[in-house]
Amino acid sequence: MRPVQIKEGVHWIGIVDWNRRNFHGYSKSPMGTTYNNFLILDDKVTLVDTVAEEFWSMLQCNVAQVLGPDRKIDYFVINHLEPDHAGCLALAVEKYRPEKIYTSPMGQKAMMAHFHYKDWPVEVVPTGSSISLGKRTLQFIEARMLHWPDSMLTYCPEDRILFSNDAFGQNWATSERWADEVDRHTLEELMKAYYANIVLPYSPVVLKTLAALADMKLDIDMICPDHGLMLRGDDVPWVIGKYIEFAEQKPKNRAVIVYDTMWHSTEKMAGAVASGLADAGVSVRIMSMKDNHHSEVMTEVFDAAAVVFGSPTHNNGILPLMADMLTYMKGLRPQNKIGSAIGSFGWSGECTKILTQWIEDMGMELVDPVKVKHVPTHDTYAQCYEQGKAIAAAIQAKLG
Ligand code: FEO
Repeated sequence: MRPVQIKEGVHWIGIVDWNRRNFHGYSKSPMGTTYNNFLILDDKVTLVDTVAEEFWSMLQCNVAQVLGPDRKIDYFVINHLEPDHAGCLALAVEKYRPEKIYTSPMGQKAMMAHFHYKDWPVEVVPTGSSISLGKRTLQFIEARMLHWPDSMLTYCPEDRILFSNDAFGQNWATSERWADEVDRHTLEELMKAYYANIVLPYSPVVLKTLAALADMKLDIDMICPDHGLMLRGDDVPWVIGKYIEFAEQKPKNRAVIVYDTMWHSTEKMAGAVASGLADAGVSVRIMSMKDNHHSEVMTEVFDAAAVVFGSPTHNNGILPLMADMLTYMKGLRPQNKIGSAIGSFGWSGECTKILTQWIEDMGMELVDPVKVKHVPTHDTYAQCYEQGKAIAAAIQAKLG
């Protein structure tokens, strides 16, 4: 897409990655993504972030369209060193020879570790520091762990723009550039998926950073993340409110049953547990690991009050797709959840003990598991149904 002027002299020069389906190697991005970056024309022409390296030629093209042949880029601001944003940095330094490269204290360390540079004009800008571009100022706010230790926000008070890098993003490749131009429900769902799979473990940092921003009383007219749609006007307080809601992780009256199965016994148990939950008024979704990616499951789990994990015993353990799911989920540190386990077995029967250990390790409130030898019976289906009822009761107690 061609560059878009978002305020007088401030241009979006990002890349729309229409075909990206695997985001960062661990999360699905079914709607593609964008790598947003920006060019500010002032006395000092400033590039805010770059894009993924594979789009280097398009970045040069976008810069040329905005700058023309005669102007150079004076400053780079690098808010985050992850390669989707800094992937073109070495190539851009070589081509544009900036006078200064501004980054956070941790950004300088990450820049060295990524690029092993020798003579780049790097200047560290900790929280509270600012630079003048001429008519404009840029102020810097470290946002450690949002998403990496080096992450930084850049605020322009004259234009009232917050360049927020990974924060407030979504994975959505669109021809539109603004959140107020696209379908709202899809936007919210993609924001939730992005938060659940990328930002979730850093929720305490989100709350701390948003509180610090509120204390700074920044007058923000636009939030420009590096992924997806940008936000302006009423969408600014809206998206900040959404992030507070996401970070607080208040559970909803929903449950997810995630399972894998060999000969369908555990799958049938999942159905019986779901009936108990549904009959008690809980909205429930059953997700097979053979048919759902772990990031799709995580998006559903994100605001559910309860998660039921199902696996038969396999070689004294659990099935590998469930081990994948549990490893992924534990790393994302979901809070305020109830957990329970189901599983069938033939002889040794470790499945529910192993699943229960994961549930406890994730700090979930435990509801007793149900284990079935080989194939469920009328009685064991009834146990699963009652387990669903017990989980529903725990949800209702939690939600008050
Ligand atoms: Fe979009 Fe942490 O990179």
